[in-house]
Amino acid sequence: MSFEQLTPRVISVSSGKGGVGKTFFSIHLAQRAVSQGMKALVLDADLGLANVDVMLGLDIKGSVKKVLDGTADLSEMVVKTKYGFDVLPGGSGLYELTNLNGEQQQVMLDAVREAAKGYDLVLIDNAAGIGDNVLYFVSAAESSLIVLTPDPTSLTDAYALIKVLSQQRNVRRFMVAVNQADEFDGQLTFRRLMSVTDRYLDIHMDYVGHMSSTPQVREAIRQQSLLNPATAPVATQEFYKLLENVLSMPRDTSRSSGLQFFWEHSLNQGLSPESAMQARS
Ligand SMILES: Nc1ncnc2c1ncn2[C@@H]1O[C@H](COP(=O)(O)OP(=O)(O)OP(=O)(O)O)[C@@H](O)[C@H]1O
Ligand SMILES: [Mg+2]
Repeated sequence: MSFEQLTPRVISVSSGKGGVGKTFFSIHLAQRAVSQGMKALVLDADLGLANVDVMLGLDIKGSVKKVLDGTADLSEMVVKTKYGFDVLPGGSGLYELTNLNGEQQQVMLDAVREAAKGYDLVLIDNAAGIGDNVLYFVSAAESSLIVLTPDPTSLTDAYALIKVLSQQRNVRRFMVAVNQADEFDGQLTFRRLMSVTDRYLDIHMDYVGHMSSTPQVREAIRQQSLLNPATAPVATQEFYKLLENVLSMPRDTSRSSGLQFFWEHSLNQGLSPESAMQARS
């Protein structure tokens, strides 16, 4: 069996600045994957604040805190959605989840790896910024999608995130999507980002497209549903093109050994069974 058949593709979705569309992108990526016959799971990795479950109006079964406490399996918390993909909710209002220590991160990684078995695609919807959890989840994933808007602070924060990920976590390849931008602004924003990364960082970026700002997105979110192709045909077409670009990106074999969710040898690096057990107690 090939690498592709054995291991789900894990894509992390992150941004420097918050509120740029990560959660919206993650759930629609999952929906598109399902439409292509894949089995998809969205992991809400913004562990302290609820995101995905609220955006979809899901009835959740518990918090990941139970997993860290060792009182529940993450897979028990998987919630099915009417869109065909599954969701692993985070936990809301739990400050202690916002900055997991190394051992807790390891417990989470193990739990996610277990829960992700049987899926073709796992999307990690991260918290915004350059917090420890984010760096950890992004570096454990195979591919990284960065979402930003043309807003200068979003651009600067995207650069900051990419810089930290490349210099501290050795993440070298990024897909970049520009939200709330037309085609021109999307490309311009990408070029502005690249003019700085090219000069200072040793990374590769693939531009996957843009998504315009449309009232139908806000409407969909208000109604806790997905974008409706019938009421927003133009926006949907543009958005789906971007999402297909992400899904059709070749798998990153250069990071195959960095696909830590599914590679035992890297999973166990630096962590004794004792400390893993301690974290569960
Ligand atoms: N293309 C768009 N057109 C119009 N509004 C949009 C668009 N994309 C996102 N938004 C608005 O931005 C808000 C934030 O989106 P979303 O929750 O997906 O961002 P996020 O990056 O996950 O935020 P956080 O950092 O808080 O997790 C949405 O509620 C919606 O109102
Ligand atoms: Mg979000």
